[in-house]
Amino acid sequence: MSEAPILVTGGAGFIGSHLVDALLAQGRSVRVLDNLSMGKRANLALDNPSLQLVEGDVADAALVAEALAGCQAVAHLAAVASVQASVDDPVGTHQSNFIGTLNVCEAMRQQGVRRVLFASSAAVYGNNGEGQAIDENTPKAPLTPYAADKLASEHYLDFYRRQHGLEPAIFRFFNVFGPRQDPSSPYSGVISIFTQRAQQGLPISVFGDGQQTRDFFYIADLVEVLLQALLAPGVVEGAVNVGWNQAVSLNQLLAEIGNLFGGLPPVSHQTPRPGDIRHSRADNQRLQACYRLPAPTPLRDGLRQLLGLA
Ligand code: NAD
Ligand code: UD1
Repeated sequence: MSEAPILVTGGAGFIGSHLVDALLAQGRSVRVLDNLSMGKRANLALDNPSLQLVEGDVADAALVAEALAGCQAVAHLAAVASVQASVDDPVGTHQSNFIGTLNVCEAMRQQGVRRVLFASSAAVYGNNGEGQAIDENTPKAPLTPYAADKLASEHYLDFYRRQHGLEPAIFRFFNVFGPRQDPSSPYSGVISIFTQRAQQGLPISVFGDGQQTRDFFYIADLVEVLLQALLAPGVVEGAVNVGWNQAVSLNQLLAEIGNLFGGLPPVSHQTPRPGDIRHSRADNQRLQACYRLPAPTPLRDGLRQLLGLA
């Protein structure tokens, strides 16, 4: 009998599709639930008989239950990943970013599935890092509907853990980047936008002075951690930051991109985004203690791989 599939919600998106590839490469069976709002069929090896795509919404409780039937574990990655989108549409994004999580928890409880990996975010800390490395016990200060939905999702997962025996592996990702991060919307991740615009010679907009910092994490490094969390016999209790404890400003990022292209298109500065976090840098001691980590992919190498230069 073949092994029960792993359900990956948001599996057609950037992070999800890399996780799906890694699971398939291990010979595992995978079911993806994705509404293709950001994800793409082209990100999935749909000719692989071990992969199944269920097209639909995590806000649809009946569909989530159907997609989970017969699965052994869940990686719950489906969400509207843009912080700005949640500021513009708090009600719409809440359906994906919170109700979706609750539907996953409830379907798991009903079907006795225990292991769930959850993609939370550094956004839950708001500006409480104040430029220092943020550890998991730093007080939470969600500044946007996106961050509030991620933090509420964490609390619900913890409730289902205590009350119903779920095994949530909760990660607070800092800024993940790499191939397949879709640059096509103004809401997309900054590296995907800046590299695409530099490649096409189009002007680049920096929101604010460019001195804001992020802790960038290359996708291949992340997948190694996610596989361990999904497949290990035990689960790490409580949330774990995923970052390298490295602060890179947008101005430094632009300089790196400029080096790779031998120059940059015009760069202009616009009003900062509402709710934008100033500095974000992970204290990653828990991550180091709980998981086997690869050597960090340096930003430059990750950018080269993203651009197909490596
Ligand atoms: P992404 O947009 O590429 O992937 C999200 C996927 O979820 C997409 O395929 C999208 O179509 C799907 N989706 C969205 N709403 C859905 C819904 N209601 N029902 C079903 N599918 C839905 O973004 P990503 O960067 O791969 O993000 C994956 C997860 O990681 C998200 O939960 C995001 O909040 C979280 N996260 C990402 C980062 C980052 O830096 N990329 C950092 C912290 C947390
Ligand atoms: C990102 C993720 C979010 C995650 C969070 C964790 C995306 C789209 N967002 O949010 O899911 O929870 O990290 O830390 O993946 N910027 C510009 N010009 C642009 C685009 C962005 O200056 O054209 C700036 C933004 O104002 C911000 C920085 O770049 O200061 C990073 O923006 P973005 O990539 O959207 O990421 P976060 O908001 O950090």
